[in-house]
Amino acid sequence: MKKIQIINGPNLNLLGKREPTVYGSVSFESYLDTLRAQYPQCAISYFQSNHEGGLIDKIHEVGFDHDGIILNAGAYTHTSIALHDAIKSVKTPVVEVHISNVHARESFRHLSMISSVCKGVIIGFGLDSYRLAIESFL
Ligand code: DQA
Repeated sequence: MKKIQIINGPNLNLLGKREPTVYGSVSFESYLDTLRAQYPQCAISYFQSNHEGGLIDKIHEVGFDHDGIILNAGAYTHTSIALHDAIKSVKTPVVEVHISNVHARESFRHLSMISSVCKGVIIGFGLDSYRLAIESFL
């Protein structure tokens, strides 16, 4: 059984309600049910926090015994050196994901502080970005 941790950052608790034209109208909880049914060979855990420190604590907690971390750091992607350092500090490979194509949006979303320390980056495929990240660990 592959142990995969999904970590969502700030404002992603509002998926389904938040800017549906950008992020869609499906809640993450309901998408998670679909994902778990699609990958019975994976133990997929889910964590969301609106706080930078909460995301860092979770990376530390799972970062030595999981097979993969899928991280959508939300807006902290573009600002957080602390998240960069946390990813660099653990053994578990981290895949950075984004629902929207950040490169087709405001220029402040074009820079990622975490891409350089991630195993790879999946951007712009809607919620399917998370499934593609799971595939990358299989
Ligand atoms: C996001 C893109 C970020 O720029 C934004 O701040 C988010 C969501 C995405 O999944 O498209 O909160 O990470």
